[in-house]
Parts: sequence; structure tokens; C-alpha cells
Amino acid sequence: TEQKTWSQRFEGALHPAIARFNASIGFDIQLIEYDLTGSMAHAKMLGKTGIISLDEADKLIKGLEQIRQEYRQGLFKPGVDAEDVHFAVERRLTELVGDVGKKLHTGRSRNDQVGTDTRLYLRDQIQQIRQQIRDFQSVLLELADRHVETLIPGYTHLQRAQPISLAHHLLAYFEMAQRDWERLGEVYQRVNISPLGAGALAGTTFPIDRQFTAEELGFSRPYNNSLDAVSDRDFAIEFLCASSLILVHLSRLSEEVILWASQEFSFITLTDSCATGSSIMPQKKNPDVPELVRGKTGRVFGHLQGMLVLMKGLPLAYNKDLQEDKESLFDAVKTVKACLEAMTILMSEGIKFREERLAEAVAEDFSNATDVADYLAAKGVPFREAYNLVGKVVKTSLSAGKLLKDLTLEEWKELHPAFESDIYAAIAPKQVVSARNSYGGTGFEQVRKALTEAKIRFKEV
Ligand code: ARG
Repeated sequence: TEQKTWSQRFEGALHPAIARFNASIGFDIQLIEYDLTGSMAHAKMLGKTGIISLDEADKLIKGLEQIRQEYRQGLFKPGVDAEDVHFAVERRLTELVGDVGKKLHTGRSRNDQVGTDTRLYLRDQIQQIRQQIRDFQSVLLELADRHVETLIPGYTHLQRAQPISLAHHLLAYFEMAQRDWERLGEVYQRVNISPLGAGALAGTTFPIDRQFTAEELGFSRPYNNSLDAVSDRDFAIEFLCASSLILVHLSRLSEEVILWASQEFSFITLTDSCATGSSIMPQKKNPDVPELVRGKTGRVFGHLQGMLVLMKGLPLAYNKDLQEDKESLFDAVKTVKACLEAMTILMSEGIKFREERLAEAVAEDFSNATDVADYLAAKGVPFREAYNLVGKVVKTSLSAGKLLKDLTLEEWKELHPAFESDIYAAIAPKQVVSARNSYGGTGFEQVRKALTEAKIRFKEV
């Protein structure tokens, strides 16, 4: 049977089922590249501080580099007997470089080691996800650029409210994505702190140099408190929070795409590259992509909740419970990346706006009613009075089967003497939109300004 690294203190062997239960190698092997990088920095520091000789440090670093090559070539495949990635690497290192390999773990613990690995991993992932957010934003900008003057009904309560510029609608999602991008940058600041050198919980008797390893690994600084360093998972929770919000946004857009693709709305068609058919109903074209994004969103919320509950009762410092942080984190990362990629493709080539349908939609309803009230208010009629009057107009028009634009000038004048022939121009959809020229509004001039600004902010790094 296998000799565990810690086995000298033990007399009996570990039950095989318990060995499997205990092992994290099945998933923490994903951290191996970061584990190697962290160990190299640690070995370099041990040499530099004279805790081991420079020659020994060199041997350790060369051995670790060799493990990296073996892993990349698919030759390093540790099994359950290795327990976790940290033991697996240390064992292989000793096979490769001999007894000096056993010096690597001087002045550190797996507790500060796993914290280091996880942060290095998440740092990389955050950078990749931020780039994906930029790709998604760039598709939204391109679409918005083409659709400043395309109108779409704007809704509140999912009832037609006021027509808006389609670009304005798309730029709302650009803004959400911008916050997501910024938020991940803020999370990064707190991911980027080094727990390495905190030891198991209390620091170490060796004259290690934590500033050096922190710098070597690109961290902004070491954690101040060793207990906090090995037991803090705030950074992971913050990441799951930021991820959950990204998915809230993608899920809301998904819901709109699903509605827009329905026969009831018919605002878009799904292109063949992003839609799927039914196994039984030959006429169907299904919006599986946004449905999956909407569905996967719940899964990431679950991981956030899971991590909060994992942490809530943990006494200081390290507890094995913390091993459970990784699978949910890895799954959240994978899910966010997959959803961002799919939505970016969907928005760039998966949907086509049906402009003729959109033009009909904004012309065939009462979403210009506010503008009639505004028209009167601009002529001195108190807004509430104007509002009540237009309410009545809508009611009588509805029962007459007419739209506001169908009323004759005589009918308008009968309703209120302030109406002139310019009422028709004032309630035409293009005019209705263009008139909302307040800062941040849907007026074309505002939308063009917003687009220009968005393109500038988009270039920030
Ligand atoms: N596999 C462990 C984890 O993921 C590494 C740290 C183990 N530390 C310990 N004291 N058992 O958390």
C-alpha cells in the first residue's frame, strides 16, 4: 500500500474509500501550472535567503520545470494515491531530483500553498473573462452603431410604453457589461494578495521573505495576518458575486431575445448558426442558446450561495471544508466563460432584427400618448390635466378602432383648442423618440453622444 507523505505518525493504512473521499487530485490538478509557479517562487526565495543553498534552489526549480514539461506533454497523470496536486508535485519532484526535493516544503504549508494556487488561477481567469466582456461589448457597439434610427417599442410591465431607439436599448446592456468589467477589476485587487509564507496558520520559524515571493508572483503585497491569509475566501465569494451579476445581465438579455424571437413579437429571426430544431415539430426553430444561458445562470447563483454557506461557521484558521471551494469556483469560471462566448456569437451573427416589423410595431399602438400630453403641457396646460384628457382620448379611440394618428384636426380641436396641425408631426414615432433629448435619454442626438462616449470608455484597460 501507498506511503502517505504524513504516514510516519500513523500505524494503520487509510481505508481506500476514505482515501478517495479525502482526495482532491481529481479536480485540483487544474491548479498544477499555478502550483509549479508558486513553488518555483518559494524555492527561489529559500535560496536567496540562505535557508537552502543556491545550488539546491536551482535543482528544485529545474525539477519543477521538468514536471511542467511532463504535464504539458500529457505524461504526468497522478492518481488518487497522490491525495492532492501539492503532494503529487512534491512526490514527483523527489523522484526527479532526489532528496533535495524534500527541502521544497521548508517554511510553508499546503494551506498557504493552496491559497496561493487558487489566487494565481483566479487572477488569470479574471483577465480572460474581462477580455471576453470586452468582446461582448464590442459586438453590442457594432449593433448599436447600425441601429441608432431603428425604433423598437420600449416596455414597462411588459406593456408597450414609449418607442425608443434600438441602439439605446442595446447600449443599456453595454452599460451593464461595463460595470461587470469594472467590478471584476475591483475583485482582482483583492484576489491579487499573497498568502504564501503564512505557513499552516501562524507563520514560520525560518527567515523567509514574503515580500520577495509576493513580488516574484506579481501579487501587490502579502496578506498582513497569517491566520487571515490561510482562511480567507472572500476573494472567491466576491468573484462568484461578480460572476452572478454578469449572468443576471446575460440572462435578462437572453429573456428578451427569446421573447423577440417568438411569433407573438417577431422582432428578430434566429439565424441557422445559433438555433436548433425540434425532434417532432418540423416548423420549430428554437432559441436554445439564450435559454441555456438563462438556465446556467441559476447554477452560478447556486455556487455563490454554496460558498457563503461553506464559510459561515468556520473557525479560524484552515479547515478541510475549504477544499470544497474549488469545484464550484472552477464550474463558475467555466460557465461564465461559456455563456459570454455564446452570447457574443448570438448577438453578432445569431439574430437579425426585422426592421419592417419593428417599424410597424411602433406605429400601431398608443405608445405616443405621453407625447400628446407633453404637447399640451408645452402649450401651458398643466400636465396632470393634459394627462387626464389624453386618457379619455385613448379610451374613445380604442372603442372607435382608431389610433391617435387617425384622429382628424377637428376631432383634436374638439378635445382641446390648443391642438394645431403640428400635432401629427409631434406624435410620429421618429419625432417621439428624437424629442427625448434629455441627458441619457433615447433621443437620437443623445444616443449618438452615448455611442461616442461608450467607444472611448471601451478602450480603457
Ligand atoms: N487539498 C487541500 C485543499 O484543497 C490542500 C490543503 C490541505 N491542507 C490540510 N491541512 N489538509 O484545501
